[in-house]
Amino acid sequence: MPLKIDVLTLFPRMLDSVLAESILGKGIAAGHLGVSVHDLRAWTTDKHRTADDRPFGGGAGMVMKPEPAIAAIEAVQTPGCRRIYLTPDGTPLSPALAEELSRQQHLVLLSGHYEGIDQRIRDTVIDQEISIGDYVLTNGTLAAAVLIDALARFIPGVLGEEKSLTHESFTSKLLDFPQYTRPAEYRGMSVPEVLLSGNHAEIEKWRHARQVEKTRLVRPDLLK
Ligand code: ADE
Repeated sequence: MPLKIDVLTLFPRMLDSVLAESILGKGIAAGHLGVSVHDLRAWTTDKHRTADDRPFGGGAGMVMKPEPAIAAIEAVQTPGCRRIYLTPDGTPLSPALAEELSRQQHLVLLSGHYEGIDQRIRDTVIDQEISIGDYVLTNGTLAAAVLIDALARFIPGVLGEEKSLTHESFTSKLLDFPQYTRPAEYRGMSVPEVLLSGNHAEIEKWRHARQVEKTRLVRPDLLK
């Protein structure tokens, strides 16, 4: 059974192109994973379709009300599914976490909005909280898109060429080496000689050296 993902968001259209285009779009079309996007407002009950309210205790901004989000999750959840809330105060997303999630059967992703969500949503219907990085987005829908894209790459068949997974940044804990394609000379800049040599051992050596060099410069923390 392919992985099934339900996304609950107040901005479902934000995901339209993300899920339709490129490798992710092809992976979904080929049935390697299934993604359903739901508008949280479908679970509001008043005539204004209210999803947020002012925070108890005061403070700026609005807070997502508990009823629509909890009703939505209860409607789509299945036994054993993983219910995830995207939030900057969650566990940082890593390749290992993306890989682990890619092996699940069913994920439910809740995107937060406003200044946050009512704590009772987290306490009752959320199994895991995930952040995509130490910056704050205007809402969690792009974070859900990032999570889906990052984990989809680990699902067999999604990346046409299996090799591209093993060769790249973070799998090896090193950043990528520079890539070149034709033309071999462009505006006076030539492709490094070794890449044209056909000597695979030398090419591997050169690429590894560039990876170490780049990692030392940009992400020395990865080398520790
Ligand atoms: N929502 C807003 N900012 C976020 C982040 N950095 N990660 C996950 N969800 C978020």
